[in-house]
Amino acid sequence: MYPLIKKILFAFNPETSHELSLDCLGALHRLKGLGLLAKPVADNPVQVMGLTFANPVGLAAGLDKNGDYFNALGELGFGFVEIGTVTPLAQPGNPKPRLFRLAEHNAIINRMGFNNKGVDHLVEQVKRRKFKGILGINIGKNAKTPVENALDDYRICMQKVYQYADYITVNVSSPNTPGLRNLQFGDSLTELLTGIKHEQTALAQSHQRYVPIAVKIAPDMDSDAVKEVADTLLTVGLDGVIATNTTVGREGVEDDPLHEQAGGLSGKPVRNKSTQVIKQLAAILEGRLPIIGVGGIDSGETAEEKIAAGASLVQVYSGFIYRGPVLIKECAEAIAKRN
Ligand SMILES: Cc1cc2nc3c(=O)[nH]c(=O)nc-3n(C[C@H](O)[C@H](O)[C@H](O)COP(=O)(O)O)c2cc1C
Repeated sequence: MYPLIKKILFAFNPETSHELSLDCLGALHRLKGLGLLAKPVADNPVQVMGLTFANPVGLAAGLDKNGDYFNALGELGFGFVEIGTVTPLAQPGNPKPRLFRLAEHNAIINRMGFNNKGVDHLVEQVKRRKFKGILGINIGKNAKTPVENALDDYRICMQKVYQYADYITVNVSSPNTPGLRNLQFGDSLTELLTGIKHEQTALAQSHQRYVPIAVKIAPDMDSDAVKEVADTLLTVGLDGVIATNTTVGREGVEDDPLHEQAGGLSGKPVRNKSTQVIKQLAAILEGRLPIIGVGGIDSGETAEEKIAAGASLVQVYSGFIYRGPVLIKECAEAIAKRN
């Protein structure tokens, strides 16, 4: 069924087709017709960050930025769904066009720029949760907030979503918010993560519930920077790392007329870069912190590759756009076979 739907959807410009797909998904969900699109995924429970995931395959952040569709998306068989990136205030993101399909390369370039309806809207949506899997909420900073004040924005989001999230992701790796990725390095990283840990401790106390926090990093880091992130996460005592976000590199897609579009590249071309970062993290972390592997997963084999590199869970985005819900089952089965 998905190949036919994809043919129709891909006839539209990427952002229209994105919105249309999610609206159709929501409608099918309301009509209880999602069985047409997805086959049940067998349970293969895994414990990560103190949470039990029914299976280790999740939806990566950015597809459902506002939490408008996670109940429907969850029914496709994901063990977990990460919504966001959400910011304290609603913001429009970058001017359109800002989403490009490099179909020959099974890739996407996006410079959405955290377009979202703001954290208060997302909270209203998550209050209507029916999804029984794990719900992650990915948080960021508003474009207008100076990078020096980024912690304020993360804290506002943490305070608002804490009660509703199974885990929270701190996104410091989007290439489309100027200055954001500087938060991945040196004193800025230590200060930010220390502030976030303090907030987590206070919220855990006031809510009498510990919500784990993962940090999402870019694939464009040298090995020293990866080591710095891993060491800081351990020192500060955060709970996990998501590797990786999109890349600013264009290796392997130079022949595509769209390759010069600004933004983050995802899909097949980021696969190896992400896997390399996961391997480096795994070598340093030695199992002390879990890794969630994301970047270029488009088959059972590529999902399994992330687990072999050291990830405990995987997430998909671009591969899901190109392949549809069948990818979830394929990945879950390939990973289950390893056990
Ligand atoms: C259109 C688009 C929007 C995205 N938005 C976000 C976002 O808001 N927050 C985030 O952490 N990652 C975002 N991502 C990155 C994905 O979550 C994922 O880390 C990245 O695309 C690599 O995975 P993939 O190759 O399976 O797509 C976005 C990716 C795409 C393609």
